[in-house]
Amino acid sequence: MMGRERSDLQGRHVVLGLTGGIACYKSAELVRLLTKAGATVQVVMTEAAEAFITPVTMQALSGRSVVTSQWDAREPNNMAHINLSRGADAVLVAPASADFIAKLAQGRADELLSLLCLARPRETCPLLVAPAMNREMWSHPATQRNVATLEQDGTRILGPGCGDQACGEVGDGRMLEPAELLEELVAFFQPKVLAGRRLLITAGPTFEPIDPVRGITNHSSGKMVHLATPRGVKRQNVMTAAQMYEAVVPSAADHDVFIATAAVADWRPANLSEHKIKKEGKKVAPTFELTENPDILAAVAALPKPPYCVGFAAESENLLAHARSKLLRKRIPLIIGNLGPATFGRDDNALLVVDAQSEHALPADGRPTDKLTLARALMQELAHRLQAVQA
Ligand code: CTP
Repeated sequence: MMGRERSDLQGRHVVLGLTGGIACYKSAELVRLLTKAGATVQVVMTEAAEAFITPVTMQALSGRSVVTSQWDAREPNNMAHINLSRGADAVLVAPASADFIAKLAQGRADELLSLLCLARPRETCPLLVAPAMNREMWSHPATQRNVATLEQDGTRILGPGCGDQACGEVGDGRMLEPAELLEELVAFFQPKVLAGRRLLITAGPTFEPIDPVRGITNHSSGKMVHLATPRGVKRQNVMTAAQMYEAVVPSAADHDVFIATAAVADWRPANLSEHKIKKEGKKVAPTFELTENPDILAAVAALPKPPYCVGFAAESENLLAHARSKLLRKRIPLIIGNLGPATFGRDDNALLVVDAQSEHALPADGRPTDKLTLARALMQELAHRLQAVQA
C-alpha cells in the first residue's frame, strides 16, 4: 500500500507542530513518511519539544528550516504565526502534550505553535491533533474536557493509541504510530462520499479443509487477506465459506451496503478427515466427495430488507455475459466484473461495472489502473447509486 499512498499527499503542504513529549522521536519518522507521500512539511517546535529532539534532525528530514519562535527575525514581516498557516493544507500537532491541548482548548497563544493554531484560517487550514501522554493524564477529566472542547471547535483528534507507555505503564495515551498518522491524514483529505453509511465487506479467499494439513481454496490476489486492517474497520477473521456465511448473513440487514469481494470456494469436502490422510501404504490416490457451499451474496440479497448488494465476478472469459447472468441469478443491483488471471497478485486492474440496464468500463478507457484509484472510483460510483436509490 505504501506505493499507493506515495502520491496521495502530492502537492499538500503540512505544518507539523511538535510539543514536549517522548513521542517526538516518532515525529522524525512521520516527516519522512509525509515527504515520501509527496507532501511538503514545515516543522514548528515548541521549546519543550526541543528537549526531546533537535531542530537539526527535523530540518534534515523535512528539508526546511524549523521554526521555533514567534520572534524569528528571518520572516521579513516578522509574522511567522500568520505566514506559516496561509499556504498550508493542514496543521498537524504530533505529539500534542496534555498541556498543549489545554492551551488550544483555551485559545491561548503565548508561543509560536499555539499562536499559529489560533491564527490559522479555519476554513482552509484544518487542525489535527495527535495526543501523546501518560494514561492517567489522558483519562483525567480535565484532559477529556479539553479534548471535547477541541472537537467542538472543529479540531480532529487522531488517536491516541493504547499500549506500552514510555513510563512503563500500559493504557490509552500513546501517540499513534507514524504510519497510522499518515493513513489518517491521507483519509482526512479524501472526499467522504459514504459518510454515515454502514458497510459490510467480505474479502479474501475461503479455505475448506480436507484434513488438518490440506484444503481447497480459491485464487485470490492475496492483496486482501495479507493487508493490515484499515483504521476504523471492524474485522472478523473466518476460514471457511460456512463461517463467512455465519459471520455475514445474520448481521447483514444492519448495514446500508454489502460488498462481496471474497473469493468464496463453491464446494467443500463433504467429510473432514480428523487426521492427516497418509500417502504411505496407499496404491491409489484418494477421492473426495464435495458438497456445495452456501451462496453468501445470494442469501443476503434475499433478505426481506437487504442492504444494497454489490457482487464481484472474476472470470477468465466472456466477462460481460457472465457478470450479467450473476447479477440476475443472485438478484443484486450491481456487479463488478474483472478478468481474474489478469489481476491476481497485481497492483492494477480494469473493471466492468454492470447493472440491470447498462454497463461501463472503469476506468473509462479500459486501461488497467492501480487498485486504490479504482477502489476510490468505485466508492464514488456506489455513492451516486445510493443517492439515486434514496431519491
Ligand atoms: N459469492 C458468495 N458466496 C459464494 C460464492 C460467491 O458470496 N458461495 C459471491 C462472491 O463474493 C462474488 C460473487 O458472489 O461477489 C460472485 O462469485 P463467483 O464465485 O464468481 O460466482 P459463482 O456464483 O460461484 O459463479 P461461477 O462459479 O459459476 O462463476
